[in-house]
Amino acid sequence: MTPDIDELLGRMSRRDKLDQLQIVWKQDLGEAAALARRGIGALFWPGNAADTNELQRVARGESPHRIPLLIGLDVVHGQRTTFPIPLAQAASFDPEIARRDAEVSAAEARGAGVTWTFSPMIDVSRDPRWGRVAEGFGEDPLVTARFGAAKVHGYQGDDLAAPTSIAATAKHFVGYGAAEGGRDYNTVDMSEQRLRNAYLPPFQAAVEAGAASVMAAFNTLSGVPMHANRRLLRDVLKDEWGFGGVVVGDAEGVVELARHGVAASPSDAIALALRAGVDIEMGGHVLGDDGEPFADADAVDDAVLDEAVRRVLRLKAALGLFEDPFVDAAAEPLAPTADTRAAARTAAERGAVLLSNGGDLLPLAAGTRRILLAGPYATSPDHLGAWVQHFAERAGTLEDAVRAEFPDADVTVLPGAGFTGADPALQQQVVEALPGHDVVVLALGEPSDLSGEAASRSDLRLPGDQEALVHAVADAGVPFVVVLENGRPLDLSGWFGRATAVLEAWHGGLEAPTAIARLLSGAASPGGRLPMAFPRSVGQVPEYDAHERTGRPATIGAQGPLSMTDWQLAGPGNVAEHFTSKYLDLDLGPLLPFGHGLSTTRFELTDLRIETPEIAAAEVLAGARIGVSLTVTNTGERDGDDVLLLFVRDEVASIAPAVRRLAGFERVTLPAGTSRTIRFELDRGSLGFWTNDPAGEHVVEPGAFTVSVSDGTTTLATGLTAR
Ligand code: GLC
Repeated sequence: MTPDIDELLGRMSRRDKLDQLQIVWKQDLGEAAALARRGIGALFWPGNAADTNELQRVARGESPHRIPLLIGLDVVHGQRTTFPIPLAQAASFDPEIARRDAEVSAAEARGAGVTWTFSPMIDVSRDPRWGRVAEGFGEDPLVTARFGAAKVHGYQGDDLAAPTSIAATAKHFVGYGAAEGGRDYNTVDMSEQRLRNAYLPPFQAAVEAGAASVMAAFNTLSGVPMHANRRLLRDVLKDEWGFGGVVVGDAEGVVELARHGVAASPSDAIALALRAGVDIEMGGHVLGDDGEPFADADAVDDAVLDEAVRRVLRLKAALGLFEDPFVDAAAEPLAPTADTRAAARTAAERGAVLLSNGGDLLPLAAGTRRILLAGPYATSPDHLGAWVQHFAERAGTLEDAVRAEFPDADVTVLPGAGFTGADPALQQQVVEALPGHDVVVLALGEPSDLSGEAASRSDLRLPGDQEALVHAVADAGVPFVVVLENGRPLDLSGWFGRATAVLEAWHGGLEAPTAIARLLSGAASPGGRLPMAFPRSVGQVPEYDAHERTGRPATIGAQGPLSMTDWQLAGPGNVAEHFTSKYLDLDLGPLLPFGHGLSTTRFELTDLRIETPEIAAAEVLAGARIGVSLTVTNTGERDGDDVLLLFVRDEVASIAPAVRRLAGFERVTLPAGTSRTIRFELDRGSLGFWTNDPAGEHVVEPGAFTVSVSDGTTTLATGLTAR
């Protein structure tokens, strides 16, 4: 029976309240049970349903106020069934993929006693040196917002108390993806307008989607650590947006305020964080194991304490934990099912991006009989990516999947190169084996442990001697496919133009090998697009699509922004424009821009229309929407998916506008020879922007706008005027 929260609060001592405001990880079940008996608010998942039930039994039966536990775990892209990394899911440009991942993950996790996940990670990032780009949805605020909201819906369903729902956590609030140097945990400093236009929108979308909690980020933001950032935690998140859920600190993030130099001691840090708006401390520093509060925890007003505890108790009530915190341990999901595998495979197939396809090499010809498969990912089982549970089902190998997908083919498998070291004999072995094979497939990439948390890289090239393998095969003059499995945009510039075809498969999860084999055979067709640009060099970072206009843009002679296809035309001549924003030693633009991706069929875009080409800015600000439509036709011989990206360029504004900004996207599946008319709507979010006013000022200014739609190959554009 769920108690009256204020009545329960009235019975709790100060120490009882403080105990509710922390989550602790304990390897030893006995130690965890002792904390549950004392009345701690939350514990990390102990590893199985039975032990979780025991902890809940102790909390419900023996703790001072019989308050059940929140049981937390990072279920970022899978529990038992591992889906592709979130960056790969974003590449699908199909938020349903993310919702389905979260739905499957929540059912597997809640069935094991988990009630709270620290996901989705919705940190926009434009810096592939940062290893955590694997966990997010790329460089664009709109893509990140849509995918983050989809995951919140997938995790939480319609009722948090349902046996298949878990509380979602939008993390890491805020700006973590903009760390200087792309170095994890490093300083972040940005203007109010950039914060509000690029980094806050995904969190506002997650709050609007009903996210039960938000996690504070490790970083400082313009000098104020997020765990002590009252303005953003209280004034913006809780007051301006009306967030009624729980703010949880990141691991040790509260006590690290002392290391940041804004608190004199860990205990001073706890008081600072609670006053700033952190509700639950992650690490167990509010009360020590001995139950004694850290001195300065007492420096927190009762009102602040009560508000935090009220949020925690409300979340437990919403999860139904006072009614029934137990799960049926005998029914704990311990392995993927055929359905969850199918969902993971679909996600891997739809997240794949065809980066190049010379001579329409892909899909491989039906008569392909002799395949040479080489590279570290030919036999590696490491397809799951960062943030994977040690107990998650392991993936198979690409070798096995290719043999299964091409049962009549002779498949030769050689190492060819390693993720580390350099052994020219491996490349020589491949070159000697080339004769007599119809096609060569090089399975390359970066191992999972080079991406994720605390995995920033200063060099974005393929690790080990993988590039040497590409050049050795290219020197032999045979057609070959490179399949990439990686957790971030890489620097492919050393070899990209020499490969006949390149397929970006990311760390595709449990079903990655099967998905890749099906994409090679044509059983599945690649339709993804890059959610984050691939730079020409790490020295070019940050390089992203929606960058603000400069007074001296380098161009290739065309005025205004280059279209996506223009980026490929950029060449050495561009650096001839002397006094413009460029590098003397690098061509313009990224190697592969945001939104890039090819298909194994052909699409035509026609008939772009704006339903209201002229409208009052005040009407848009008041909520008017503007319809934009176009027709897309599959003019090829194969069925396929196209991704339509809607951009808006504000020609003149009171703050330097972006060269263009994504305002919508849609993935469409079109059988060969068919057409569809797609309709988007522009609104104040598309045409307006936040100013530098710290109080939060969103404006739509009169003026001309260019509206364009691109599928990565073709771009149509037209004009819109706000009066
Ligand atoms: C880590 C991560 C955070 C995660 C937490 C708990 O340090 O920053 O994303 O949820 O600890 O595992």
